[in-house]
Amino acid sequence: MSTFAIETKQLKKVFKPLIGGSGLVAVDQLSLQVPQGQVFGFLGPNGAGKTTTIQMLLGNVFPTGGSARVMGYPAGDLRAKRKIGFLPEKFQFHDFLTAAEFLRLHGKLAKMDSRRLHNRIDEALTLVGLYERRNSKIREFSKGMQQRAGLAQAILHDPELVILDEPTSALDPLGRRSVREVVQHLKEQGKTVFLNSHLLSEIEMTCDYVAIINKGQVVKQGKLEDLLTDRSTVELEIRNLSAQILESLSRISPKVTQENETHVRVELADETRVPELAKAVVETGGELFSMQVKRESLEDLFIRTVEEAS
Ligand SMILES: Nc1ncnc2c1ncn2[C@@H]1O[C@H](COP(=O)(O)OP(=O)(O)OP(=O)(O)O)[C@@H](O)[C@H]1O
Ligand SMILES: [Mg+2]
Repeated sequence: MSTFAIETKQLKKVFKPLIGGSGLVAVDQLSLQVPQGQVFGFLGPNGAGKTTTIQMLLGNVFPTGGSARVMGYPAGDLRAKRKIGFLPEKFQFHDFLTAAEFLRLHGKLAKMDSRRLHNRIDEALTLVGLYERRNSKIREFSKGMQQRAGLAQAILHDPELVILDEPTSALDPLGRRSVREVVQHLKEQGKTVFLNSHLLSEIEMTCDYVAIINKGQVVKQGKLEDLLTDRSTVELEIRNLSAQILESLSRISPKVTQENETHVRVELADETRVPELAKAVVETGGELFSMQVKRESLEDLFIRTVEEAS
């Protein structure tokens, strides 16, 4: 079997209007490779095509072009679907059921064995922190508690691949931490997690791989640690800043910005050049009072990548 839990090739979706017009290209030539057993963050601005892609992976939306394979089968194949657990972006559950009844219904739909289901309901509710509320009706839950119930449903049948479309959008910081723990727990069990979130600090803490998409296309994809290496911003405080000092800094970095009379911001594509900056300032007679190196965060990378692609 392929080493990828998800592999798409030039996947495309055009939503055609009912009458006339050329249609809206939601996903365009999207090629993704999600390694098995890894946590993969699927990022992009609003309307970039994330949910549409996920719906194609699940087989709920039919692609206009390209192909997608999920757990070794064509997307939408029942054998692939059986291996997936899914938390939708807009979750709407049977809210007249209690949390335990809701999970029992979904377990039965997934054809789980009754005894196993009984144990898994308690386990899943405990993992998402809802065990104490297992006999409360979902309609009595807060939205964060409903999202937790949805997450319990996604992991209930012990799926090989868990797809979470914004799992933490309704959650408080404690809830977000518990989702991180659930994701970590899934990874330790060898599962693949494919998740999408606008909370980039969460993604940075959780994911091994990321893809950033914009207007339906992948603009960056890879191991997070590879994408975030080296690039940094250096803030320098120089009391007697002169044109000469700025010029010598520009020889090291193409992007030197003077913030005010004493502060300069320098972007470096290679962190090993940081000492050269200090040397350049001192050699041109600068009084260097402070120097702060800030590594590029995932949020910086996201904004830079999307801006460059737009
Ligand atoms: N059923 C549909 N019919 C027509 N257009 C659609 C449909 N579903 C999505 N779209 C359009 O496809 C584009 C991508 O939408 P999608 O929901 O995939 O974005 P997203 O990346 O998930 O955004 P968000 O971060 O806001 O959830 C949008 O322009 C949206 O209006
Ligand atoms: Mg979406």
